Amino acid sequence: MTFSELAASRYSVRKYQDRPVESEKLSVILEAARVAPTAHNNQPQRIFAAVSPASREKLATVCKCTFGAPVILVVCYDSEEAWHNKLMPGYQSGETDAAICCTHMMLQAWDLGIASCWVGMFNSDQVKDVLGLPENLTVSALLPLGYAAEDAGPIAMHDASRDISELSSIL
Ligand SMILES: Cc1cc2nc3c(=O)[nH]c(=O)nc-3n(C[C@H](O)[C@H](O)[C@H](O)COP(=O)(O)O)c2cc1C
Repeated sequence: MTFSELAASRYSVRKYQDRPVESEKLSVILEAARVAPTAHNNQPQRIFAAVSPASREKLATVCKCTFGAPVILVVCYDSEEAWHNKLMPGYQSGETDAAICCTHMMLQAWDLGIASCWVGMFNSDQVKDVLGLPENLTVSALLPLGYAAEDAGPIAMHDASRDISELSSIL
């Protein structure tokens, strides 16, 4: 599969098989976040893989979008470690760095036949609270991962892409 085919074929999966994700595949997915670019190479990302039923059940109490997936990646960053842009007081790169890591993992997973869905609908403090994560971290995204259910498929929103002329311009 070329990169173009990979990116075009990916869609958000919201129904998973019970089949676990092999630990070797999980390691490859986590490696994709390790090699992702971060501002000033500060690497403020911290990723927690909720694999045990106990940790996934805890997450399900504070997020409706875990979809019963066998793995839920909790993608966090440390805003103190993130790059602070002196030219834009108040800006730090944590959200951006975490989003790049999440994208790398989502696409690496798809390349391995593992589906995912980027989830933003949660409260960072509640997620940290139920999992006992360090206070200094902010949760940027949850990424449920697993093998797509036989009857999974893209929802209508997936195909509602705007025309390229609306989204990008050559100057
Ligand atoms: C930042 C972000 C937050 C999202 N949050 C959620 C979410 O909380 N729940 C959900 O079901 N999907 C969520 N999505 C998935 C989007 O709805 C989905 O990517 C979009 O509709 C396009 O569909 P596709 O991924 O199938 O191409 C999120 C995606 C992004 C990028």
